[in-house]
Amino acid sequence: MEREHLHRVFWDAHVGKEQRREKNLFKRVHTDLVWLEIAPFVEPGLRVLDAGGGYGRYSVALAREGCQVVHLDLSPRMLEEARKIARREGVEQRMTFVLGKVQDLSAFADQAFDLVISLDAPVSYAYPSEKQALRELCRVTRGTLIVSVVNRLGQLPVALEVEARWRKDFALSRKFLEEGNWDHPPFFQAMEEKIPLLSRLLFPPLHAFLPMELVNEVESSGFRVQRVVATGTLSRLVSPRTLRRIVRNPKLYEEFLKLSHWYDAHFEVLGVGSRVASGLLVVARREGEHHAGVV
Ligand SMILES: C[S@@+](CC[C@H](N)C(=O)[O-])C[C@H]1O[C@@H](n2cnc3c(N)ncnc32)[C@H](O)[C@@H]1O
Repeated sequence: MEREHLHRVFWDAHVGKEQRREKNLFKRVHTDLVWLEIAPFVEPGLRVLDAGGGYGRYSVALAREGCQVVHLDLSPRMLEEARKIARREGVEQRMTFVLGKVQDLSAFADQAFDLVISLDAPVSYAYPSEKQALRELCRVTRGTLIVSVVNRLGQLPVALEVEARWRKDFALSRKFLEEGNWDHPPFFQAMEEKIPLLSRLLFPPLHAFLPMELVNEVESSGFRVQRVVATGTLSRLVSPRTLRRIVRNPKLYEEFLKLSHWYDAHFEVLGVGSRVASGLLVVARREGEHHAGVV
């Protein structure tokens, strides 16, 4: 089955699952940490692109803040759900929904958006066109770009677990560590031909980045990276019981988010990141642009 089709089948089948993920404590903290990255740049009237916006986790909230949001996604079912939520929240008139791919933003002019976000790894899922996806995101950004991808070093344990279960060697994991590509191995491909619904369950092919690989790609398109963050590292390292205790206490939680904001961007932890969501994020600004929220 073609890679692009695999992705559509997978994400169409995952609308409900994506929404339920927010009940996962680690994912909830991840979402709150990503908001800390976006918040300084939000202003009413801003033209925003959310590329790979899913069911609207961030795009609907940005429209609620008064931004004009183009919400693009590869999955018709994700778009349908996002539109439904936008209508329910009374912000549909500030949003436009576009079926499309992050690696082909030819429908939009150069620098068409003040703020572009692409979060929780659409760029990684654009594999094998992940670099094209980054170039396209940069091209349509006038001001600030916030993009998060799968963190290769943080994802390695997951690859090892999959391989230890299905195979008896680590050849795929070693290749994943070296090149960052998680493709469906030949035996999965043969199974997919026979079992059409299997691709709903298998994690789709992706490219996982090393921190400097992502930074260099974005900077080669005329951007200056302001922050590199392995989002969710501190929350991954404390015990689930401790994290639950922290999240239940609003004062402690606020302090924890601030600590994470600093810790997760620390050079020594950049190759880890969340286990349950994209673990590598950059905030980048077009060189020479001056905007609200600049640090
Ligand atoms: C994990 S969800 C993240 C959704 C949203 N950005 C968020 O953070 O809540 C990944 C989304 O990327 C979309 N996606 C995957 N590959 C894509 C591509 N090549 N172009 C556009 N969207 C894509 C999927 O349909 C899905 O909605």
